[in-house]
Amino acid sequence: MNIKNLIYVLSISLLIFSCSSSDDSAEPNPNPNPNPSGNVTYNGHIQSIMSNFCTSCHGNPTTNGAPMSLTTYAEVKSAVENRGLIQRINDANNPMPQGGLMSQANRALVQQWVNDGFLEN
Ligand code: HEC
Repeated sequence: MNIKNLIYVLSISLLIFSCSSSDDSAEPNPNPNPNPSGNVTYNGHIQSIMSNFCTSCHGNPTTNGAPMSLTTYAEVKSAVENRGLIQRINDANNPMPQGGLMSQANRALVQQWVNDGFLEN
């Protein structure tokens, strides 16, 4: 009887211990890294693509007949949403920049930035 009770108590405490320890491990850091380095951001990628390929015309002020500036986060985001920027950088018949499409890698970065929700930094 005593042995049975002892086993019973031991089993219960083992159960409680394993439950409480699994509770601990079930609580990971809810947001370990909100911006892992893999993300495409305006400050990290898009701004330099714009200044390398676009702001010679889409500067502030604009030149060569470009209709809008692409020198800030808000301007580039707005051009994606309202001026078909994604279509134009992928349209070989009517490309932006006018001289010809950017590399696949650069175009994929801009697309990824849009897909990820326009991260700024
Ligand atoms: C050599 C000058 C020049 C460069 C470089 C250039 N653009 Fe343009 N862009 C223009 C001109 C001029 C227009 C207006 C005529 C047209 O739509 O083709 C225009 C139009 C656009 C439009 C359409 C705007 C609208 O409201 O219809 C978008 C979007 C655009 N450019 C994005 C870009 C992006 C993004 C880059 C860089 C990847 C770029 N452009 C590079 C001159 C340029």
